[in-house]
Amino acid sequence: MAFESFRDFIEQLDRAGELIRITQPVATELEITEMADREMKKPGGGKALLIEKPTVNGVVSPFPVAINTMGSHKRMAMSMGANSVDEVAAELGSLMKAKPPTGFREAIKLLSLALDLRHAKPKLVKSGPCKEVVHLVESPKSKVDSWPKAPDWQNPSAFNSQPSTLLNLPILKCWPLDGGRFITLPCVVTKDPDTGDRNLGMYRMQIYDGNSCGMHWQLQKVAARHGRRYYEKGERMPVAIFLGGDPMFPFAATAPLPDGLDEFLLAGYLRKKSVELVKCETNDLEVPANADFVIEGYIDPTEPLRDEGPFGDHTGYYTLPEPYPVVHITAITHRKDAVYPATIVGIPPMEDFYIGAASVKLFLPIFKMNFPEIVDIALPAEGVFHNLVFVSIKKTYPMQAYKIMHGLWGMGQMMFTKYIVVVDAGVDVHNTSEVLFHLTANTDPQRDSIFTKGPADVLDHATSEIAIGSKLGIDATKKIPGEGFKRPWPPLIKMDAVVKQKIDQLFNR
Ligand SMILES: Cc1cc2nc3c(=O)[nH]c(=O)nc-3n(C[C@H](O)[C@H](O)[C@H](O)COP(=O)(O)O)c2cc1C
Repeated sequence: MAFESFRDFIEQLDRAGELIRITQPVATELEITEMADREMKKPGGGKALLIEKPTVNGVVSPFPVAINTMGSHKRMAMSMGANSVDEVAAELGSLMKAKPPTGFREAIKLLSLALDLRHAKPKLVKSGPCKEVVHLVESPKSKVDSWPKAPDWQNPSAFNSQPSTLLNLPILKCWPLDGGRFITLPCVVTKDPDTGDRNLGMYRMQIYDGNSCGMHWQLQKVAARHGRRYYEKGERMPVAIFLGGDPMFPFAATAPLPDGLDEFLLAGYLRKKSVELVKCETNDLEVPANADFVIEGYIDPTEPLRDEGPFGDHTGYYTLPEPYPVVHITAITHRKDAVYPATIVGIPPMEDFYIGAASVKLFLPIFKMNFPEIVDIALPAEGVFHNLVFVSIKKTYPMQAYKIMHGLWGMGQMMFTKYIVVVDAGVDVHNTSEVLFHLTANTDPQRDSIFTKGPADVLDHATSEIAIGSKLGIDATKKIPGEGFKRPWPPLIKMDAVVKQKIDQLFNR
């Protein structure tokens, strides 16, 4: 189902009893976080919140804030216009069944073809609601040789006097030691300067002042690769950041699609209607016509990078300042009745757990095509996205669990996974307690584990150096001949079906 606006989706949440409206003024500085965090920590993710009068430095913003709108399995499914994400995943999987692919790249190519077949291709239109109000921003023309030093992150009071935000947008200062205000659900559009391929990614943006912000694309992400090409060529890089519109846009922006596959195709497929795009006012990039806000700008490769952060992150810890490019804003356009979408990240569980879980479900059919023995995959909330992955497999030959570990570490953003635990089919990977039981019961630690090395998430504060680290794989499956186990494997305790039935009846009486 296609939502014509973010407000449309919020109204649907309201009708379904999934939204709480907050009519009292609430500060964008920390208070919205405290409110949203309490909701996100409720079993199942609580409700979405619409803060009707967010305040910025004590003044009520003209725009309401919506937060936690995708923070439950139900709301995630509603954003796709479906009863459950499994239903959407099954449909997507069956689209590719006609011609089983021989490898991951081919699976992705087929996925791209399949999405095309569903008429999911975005189309260019002349104008749209995102242009109802247009502000052109006069950006400083001079090149900057050095940026102000980031304040000492160990001194919280250094962050209390932040510069005014863009047009009084209710941009959150999420946590006490954050280096300022951050746009937390930005959909960032960039293009590969060589091929013209478009990318949509979600990379948070720190506000430096009224016309510049930080672009936190991490080393291994697609827009960072685009950026490196502009730096090599010494050309100005156009960037467009949009917020709101159909909830499938931020979802597609976070989805780990391979480089070169247009996320608007996935969004169009999921909303069952192709995405209408409009050209930006001050560069040639395209953004959804029904977005709520669009921030246009550029990155100047002749400028130095600027410290971004600290920021209370997905990891549950602050990520400390690191140098990232600066975006100079050239225009801000928005709907008249725009709603500002936000999220917070921090100690799990948070809204991002449900977004990540939906991604895993959707891409499970592709994993299974490459690794037919995979039954299910889960990224438990405690592992904050990809720190910890549980995989269940139908094992038929020795050392198959290790093949799966290596295969997953080699697949896209699964490269960031620190711990992979492989269990037998039949273990519910979504039940962490069940996995831990099999992990501890079925392993001899030295025999059943493997350490290896690889790229790490740049947010990971525990690696000795940024972006590189080690990985641990644990084979918690039943050992079979050929795996060095020389004793009989005992049966798992299970009650007789007849006895169970008899006691069930007794209990019912
Ligand atoms: C709420 C949220 C915030 C995120 N912030 C960032 C970020 O600041 N930088 C980043 O590189 N990835 C961030 N991510 C993860 C990326 O959006 C994700 O890796 C995505 O697949 C990147 O797209 P790409 O593969 O096209 O680069 C965030 C994800 C979520 C759900």
